[in-house]
Amino acid sequence: MRQPGGAVPRHIAIVMDGNGRWATRRFLPRVAGHRQGVESLRRCVQACLDRGVQVLTVFAFSSENWDRPQDEVSGLMSLMVSVLAKEVAPLKTNGVQLRFVGALDALSEKVRNGLQQAERDTAGNRRLVLNICFNYGGRWDIAQAARRVAASGQEITEASLNAAMALAHVPDPDLVIRTGGEFRISNFLLWQSAYSEFVFSDKLWPDFDPQALDEAIAAYGKRERRFGKTSEQVVGRQPA
Ligand code: IPE
Ligand code: IPE
Ligand code: MG
Repeated sequence: MRQPGGAVPRHIAIVMDGNGRWATRRFLPRVAGHRQGVESLRRCVQACLDRGVQVLTVFAFSSENWDRPQDEVSGLMSLMVSVLAKEVAPLKTNGVQLRFVGALDALSEKVRNGLQQAERDTAGNRRLVLNICFNYGGRWDIAQAARRVAASGQEITEASLNAAMALAHVPDPDLVIRTGGEFRISNFLLWQSAYSEFVFSDKLWPDFDPQALDEAIAAYGKRERRFGKTSEQVVGRQPA
């Protein structure tokens, strides 16, 4: 249960890791783990809607995931197409705005068209923004932002870069969760997570349920975010 007074993060970002291990432990092909991962995401989106989270950003396919075996990569691409065909209508009804974040030009036309159609279908929704990072890398994002700012003739500053980043339509994540037991960022939101709180879960992504989400939110609620200041400044007390 959420602790009394514990703040609900406005923006939660998740590295959904552990699908492959979930499948391998069951002697299933890795793509079966990715399919189960979609179920977990559906449950997580509903939980975020129920808790009043405004933005959910998930890492679905990294710039580096192209280096996986070809059958897994093509399995992930076709899974994306079939999931969109099934899920966009209920997301639309639930007020979810879908956004795809990443180097979408490198995707096949079929996948890209599916993503763009889903964005158009849900563009008017305001209850929850669901950013799906797909062919995304934090380094890619910083480089593409720098290229765009340079091409516009503007000076490169934190503000101009920030405005050109792929997640400029949402505030920075308050809470970053990584499932699957690894303690690394794997090229996720390098720029945007500068002052995020991190929670690492041993649960594999398909097993990450609303109770685990509540535990992460409760842990977040106990953190003191200081943004470089002293504790006294943050709580409004005078230093002793
Ligand atoms: C995360 O699960 C999903 C993607 C990277 C697409 P993994 O597929 O990395 O699962 P593990 O880490 O091998 O268990
Ligand atoms: C990060 O997981 C990418 C996604 C969850 C999409 P990886 O499984 O690719 O990360 P590493 O390789 O273990 O660092
Ligand atoms: Mg992994």
